[in-house]
Amino acid sequence: MKRREFLGYTALGAVGAASAALLGGCDTGEPKVKFWQHGNFRPVTEEVAVTDLKVQGQIPPELNGLYVRNGTNTSRGVAEHFFGGDGMLHGVRLENGQAKWYRNRYVNTPLYRDEGGGFGSTNGEDTTSAVSLIHHGGRLMSLGEFGYPYLINPDDLSTLGAFNYDGKLTGNMTAHPRIDPVTGELLFFGYNVMEPYLTYMRADAAGNLVQVEPITLTGPSMVHDFAATERYVVFMEMPVRFSWLAAISGSALPFKWDGNAPTRVGVMPRTGGDADIRWFDIPPCFVFHIMNSFERGDDVIVDAARYDQLWVKNSHDFFHPARLSRFTMNMRTGQASVEQIYGEAMEFPQVNRSQWTRPYRYGYSLVVDEKNDSPERIAQAQGGIRKYDVETGAVDSYLPGPELTPGEAIFIAARDGAAEDEGYLASFEYNKNTRTSAFCLFDATRVSAGPIASVPLPVRVPVGFHAVWVPDDVA
Ligand SMILES: [Fe+2]
Repeated sequence: MKRREFLGYTALGAVGAASAALLGGCDTGEPKVKFWQHGNFRPVTEEVAVTDLKVQGQIPPELNGLYVRNGTNTSRGVAEHFFGGDGMLHGVRLENGQAKWYRNRYVNTPLYRDEGGGFGSTNGEDTTSAVSLIHHGGRLMSLGEFGYPYLINPDDLSTLGAFNYDGKLTGNMTAHPRIDPVTGELLFFGYNVMEPYLTYMRADAAGNLVQVEPITLTGPSMVHDFAATERYVVFMEMPVRFSWLAAISGSALPFKWDGNAPTRVGVMPRTGGDADIRWFDIPPCFVFHIMNSFERGDDVIVDAARYDQLWVKNSHDFFHPARLSRFTMNMRTGQASVEQIYGEAMEFPQVNRSQWTRPYRYGYSLVVDEKNDSPERIAQAQGGIRKYDVETGAVDSYLPGPELTPGEAIFIAARDGAAEDEGYLASFEYNKNTRTSAFCLFDATRVSAGPIASVPLPVRVPVGFHAVWVPDDVA
């Protein structure tokens, strides 16, 4: 994503863009070490399709479907920000215990084709679509946080085109929608730097957009994720905000910490509107990702990766630890509390998605190496996957050492009606020595035992963002 493109599709228009051009020589706060140009953060240069894949260990034969992950991969030049590349999908097709193919493909957007976009564009098609995917209403959608979703063909990862719910989606769509596992509804939102700063939306199980509600925030906050429970949706308005000053100074992603902005959590009935929201003030913090959320009595509970602060200097400033924390909003008393659940740094929280919106016991995340959590030392960082029992506080961690680095691990149930943690974790793991990656499956009841199946790939899968599992037996 180039600066002009960001300004374009956040609907800032010509004012910010022209100012940025005039002030092009200003300090943009770019870090000395652009970590996203090094190691496995570097983009790959080819789209490949590989069919002759060997399996080490055993892929459970009942796992038939597509695992596919999104991430940024700039197609030209150098991205100005870690989030700035074009969307690239990396997929592995599983069938009867075999890995039938791996392929990687760009999401074919106007920005990828270097068409459209640019100054003043408010076209929802102008997105890099680089953050995540969701499968809902029979559609596999690539999501970019800004702009519309893109429909993807699960058979070959080709792009079918932008999708705006027959014109009902009027603006951006989050990369973190939630599906209610009982009703099948898709609950989501979009945020923008102009009013309405946030819009809540709800689609029925068939994928028809049935509710659109503008939501009042106090300012243009970055809202990456949100929470849903059986009866409520939860919006987190936090002090990372769009900054005009950063924009006119030429920031590639002009959001930063605003110490004067409030930190508050809004709880709204899922079929309600702006006037129905109850806001709860909480101590300053920031959240990219929510693990899960549910109700218990009068409490609405949200478990999330909580940062004390983020992007104080600029939006390249990722290197602060997030810790799993519980946000509790009491609907009777109007009081909120925040408590840390686990002390070690983490990110990319996940759960069995059949527990989305409902009480749960088990969560999963990436291990973050706090000692090496800096642009200069990130190559030495030792990653891993951690399982949490949020009832007992117990953890079980896969810590493969300095050579191997797994990415986000998503949960795939072993079968319908299985126990909450009876299933598998799926992830791409990078090998620093061979500079190639493998698709890995872990038994979610024995995470520390390491992969039960590994599919070595002849290529590297760069560090990326979020994945989805698309089973064959779901429409
Ligand atoms: Fe995310």
